[in-house]
Amino acid sequence: MKAALCHAFGPVEQLRIEDIPEPIPGPGELLIAVHAAGVNFPDGLMIRGEYQVKPPTPFTPGSEIAGTVAAIGPNVDGFAPGDRVVALCGMGGFAERAIAQADRAIKLPPAMPFDEAAGFLLAHGTSLHALADKARLRAGETLLVLGAAGGVGLAAVELGAAMDATVIAACSSPEKCALARQHGAADTIDYSQTDLKAELKRRYPAGIDVAYDPVGGPFTEAAVRALAWGGRLLVVGFAAGDIPKLPLNLLLLKEAQAIGVFWGAFTSREPDHHRRNVELLFRWFAEGKLKPHVGARFPLTQTADAILHVMERKAQGKVVVEP
Ligand SMILES: NC(=O)c1ccc[n+]([C@@H]2O[C@H](COP(=O)([O-])OP(=O)(O)OC[C@H]3O[C@@H](n4cnc5c(N)ncnc54)[C@H](OP(=O)(O)O)[C@@H]3O)[C@@H](O)[C@H]2O)c1
Repeated sequence: MKAALCHAFGPVEQLRIEDIPEPIPGPGELLIAVHAAGVNFPDGLMIRGEYQVKPPTPFTPGSEIAGTVAAIGPNVDGFAPGDRVVALCGMGGFAERAIAQADRAIKLPPAMPFDEAAGFLLAHGTSLHALADKARLRAGETLLVLGAAGGVGLAAVELGAAMDATVIAACSSPEKCALARQHGAADTIDYSQTDLKAELKRRYPAGIDVAYDPVGGPFTEAAVRALAWGGRLLVVGFAAGDIPKLPLNLLLLKEAQAIGVFWGAFTSREPDHHRRNVELLFRWFAEGKLKPHVGARFPLTQTADAILHVMERKAQGKVVVEP
């Protein structure tokens, strides 16, 4: 079978497509014929050797897949060959077939296409966990989403709207602002054109209840300064590269909170809660409240281009590789 292989940590461009033996599922595992694999920011960091997980080389990146069950290992219940599933596989996703733990696989609703499913779980799972479990976002509150047209950002926009919050989308181009509006943002700020801190102060003098931050860099402090009394900052990621440092008096003055979000660890530590969240996401998808946006599709031969598309800030919604 064909798979993308990283032989040594370094530039994403060095990823190679090669023929490798098809993996055999062990106890508790499924072999999945991959129809689509979601591209996520950490895929590129992992290839560069800049991610907290540094797998032994060679390895195949790709942590999120949608496809059909091709074979079932020993001690697996509840799956049959041909089942349509979405799975978190850790690694190995950018390939024609991939292994996933059966307990990390979930059957897909019939109406959900593979390309939408491949990028759904991580982006929407992270954002639901952040907004509902960590920030306890309430109907009628204001929600500021940074990087609002990116993978997790656009999911947060949709979910905020589904939870009846007033969503303010902040992103870096008119096209990205328009996409965020299509997905439920009531207001947008293009922070490539305006100063985010000044613009938030001007438009929202009473402050913002919740700020969702997958970007970091200079935007974090601007968002914290815009928080209302009792506001919550959700620390989701640092796509801009710099991990910001905050003057803590900004939290004290407003009884505000900065809350860390680590969805991957949450899914392992609280699997039942995670499954309930996924059920809710599938229900909202079936009700039409969530419309995952696949902004770009790449064949397996162009996996490096797909990852670079995300790393170079070009992605709108999710990017998928379709083996
Ligand atoms: N904590 C968790 O559990 C968790 C889960 C999933 C993802 N994450 C993290 O969340 C972050 C976003 O992930 P994603 O998959 O949504 O990525 P993404 O689709 O690339 O979105 C990131 C957004 O960040 C903004 N950005 C600003 N400066 C950037 C730069 N120098 N390079 C790239 N993007 C830049 C871009 O929006 P503008 O152009 O509009 O500024 C971009 O749309 C990543 O750091 C990821 O590791 C965390």
